[in-house]
Amino acid sequence: MVNRKTVAVIGGGVSGLAAARAFDEQGHRVLGYERTHDIGGVWEPSRSYPGVRTQSPKDFYRYTDMAMPDDYPEWPSGQQVHAYLHRFADKHDLHRLFSLNTGVRSVDRRADGAPGWRLTLESAGRSVVQEVDFVAVCTGQFSDKNIITHPGQDAFLAQGGQVIHSSEYIDPTTVQGKRLVVLGGSKSATDIAVNAVENGAKQVTMVYRHNVWRIPYHIGGINFKWLLYPRFQEVQFNGWGRSPLQKAVAAIAKPFVWANLKGLETMISVQEGLKKHNMKPTVPIDAEVGCTIPLMTEGLMKYVRAGKIKPVIGTYDRYEGDEIVLSNGERVGCDLSVLAVGWQLGFPFLNQDSLDKLIDRDGLYKLYRFCVNPDLPDLGFVGIASSFATVLNADMMAKWLVRFADGQLARQPSDAEMRDNIEMMLNWKRHERPAAQPYGGLCTAPFHLKYFEELLEDIGAKKCRPVYPRAEVYHQSLRAAPDYRAG
Ligand SMILES: Cc1cc2nc3c(=O)[nH]c(=O)nc-3n(C[C@H](O)[C@H](O)[C@H](O)COP(=O)(O)OP(=O)(O)OC[C@H]3O[C@@H](n4cnc5c(N)ncnc54)[C@H](O)[C@@H]3O)c2cc1C
Ligand SMILES: NC(=O)c1ccc[n+]([C@@H]2O[C@H](COP(=O)([O-])OP(=O)(O)OC[C@H]3O[C@@H](n4cnc5c(N)ncnc54)[C@H](OP(=O)(O)O)[C@@H]3O)[C@@H](O)[C@H]2O)c1
Repeated sequence: MVNRKTVAVIGGGVSGLAAARAFDEQGHRVLGYERTHDIGGVWEPSRSYPGVRTQSPKDFYRYTDMAMPDDYPEWPSGQQVHAYLHRFADKHDLHRLFSLNTGVRSVDRRADGAPGWRLTLESAGRSVVQEVDFVAVCTGQFSDKNIITHPGQDAFLAQGGQVIHSSEYIDPTTVQGKRLVVLGGSKSATDIAVNAVENGAKQVTMVYRHNVWRIPYHIGGINFKWLLYPRFQEVQFNGWGRSPLQKAVAAIAKPFVWANLKGLETMISVQEGLKKHNMKPTVPIDAEVGCTIPLMTEGLMKYVRAGKIKPVIGTYDRYEGDEIVLSNGERVGCDLSVLAVGWQLGFPFLNQDSLDKLIDRDGLYKLYRFCVNPDLPDLGFVGIASSFATVLNADMMAKWLVRFADGQLARQPSDAEMRDNIEMMLNWKRHERPAAQPYGGLCTAPFHLKYFEELLEDIGAKKCRPVYPRAEVYHQSLRAAPDYRAG
């Protein structure tokens, strides 16, 4: 008999919806909290810039039990994803579970020492305390802006200049005739640079610290999904937990893998003309394949070639008058400075004691299956680790987490097993695969198949080994898993 729990779900994005659905489905009482006025997280329209669309093809950016509509394009727009998330919430009647405009300010152990947690909620200026048996943290990696400033910013603003974070780039009509400088070299930066050109910016300069590999939507005319997601590609990278035999095979195959990845680099480089524009990264692509590798915004290289976007390697040194002085000494005229410098990973509502248990000294998170920490009982994370298929990731994690919380995994780990596994994963990230370190080590790409198969085996779902991470195959596999109801 599984006891019915009161479960707090913090966050109403992709992951919060997955968690609410999973705990609700098994019969728990779900209390969802979303601090903004709507569900959707990064896809809520007021949070994303015009023209944003997924990087993941739609087959990989979906819940296991609900495909994106047939009439959606291969890479749906932000609005379409938002509508899809609402439809998912409608389908499973999830809206009733969420309190909107309700932020979670703190999460502490219950004062009387009983299991569970004590949440302090904030809504309409009022503070309320709610005690729960279990907490699912679903606040994502991209909720809190990375705020940085540079010397001279106040004077720059005073003389009429503007400085915004990439997430505040909402209305492109305002860029007409302006000189834009975008700081950062990842996906938000290139999307905004291209969007600004297309909306009549007078001049666009993109300043970033180093070149990164960007995957074109099509490589040699082939949709990148056929090259990046399949099993034959995934096994080329050094995944975690390999046996001595697997390591020996990998050593033998190394020259072939090297040749394959060099071939990929060459194709991208030649197709996009990277060398000519000093945009070819110096590191091999293998060293970057993970969640930091962005797709190449369509139009980026066309506008670079046309001189409409000027890439500069460096960073800001200071603002001076209506100019930005760069670290290489160059001065760039600027009306609007867009800081596309990413997000602050963190959980401000967790107290220091919890954070110390969760995060190692070098910033790597200590989580079993990217979901739970044995020193933080009755608490788990959904979607904290992203990938190239984050909705699928979140869905599978949520289904795993509820069974873990209920002691219903077919392979329920012991405390010692969790600790050993966490240690193994930390070692792997530190010594075997540094590409897995960014974002606190919270990325499962490019090991989608490996990770999903671990979760499915833990759950006791039907064994499956699709060639691609195919949601409908996982759905069938999960339907065959042992079921139960809390109550
Ligand atoms: C512009 C953009 C495009 C992306 N495109 C892709 C893509 O194509 N493919 C891919 O795999 N990934 C993509 N990502 C990554 C993306 O973050 C994930 O795919 C996914 O949307 C994350 O969902 P989430 O629910 O985990 O987090 P979020 O979407 O960030 O949702 C977290 C929610 O928690 C809420 N919240 C935060 N703190 C609190 C609190 N204290 N109390 C209450 N509520 C709180 C936030 O308001 C937010 O609604 C993209 C990210 C961005 C920023
Ligand atoms: N679907 C889409 O189309 C889409 C659109 C936007 C974003 N996304 C996703 O959303 C996530 C966040 O992307 P993002 O582009 O917003 O952020 P990001 O990937 O974290 O990139 C941040 C960028 O800012 C730079 N930076 C950070 N701090 C800096 C500093 N102090 N000075 C100078 N540069 C600094 C980083 O440079 P270094 O590398 O040198 O640190 C990096 O280029 C990613 O997963 C991305 O794939 C997807």
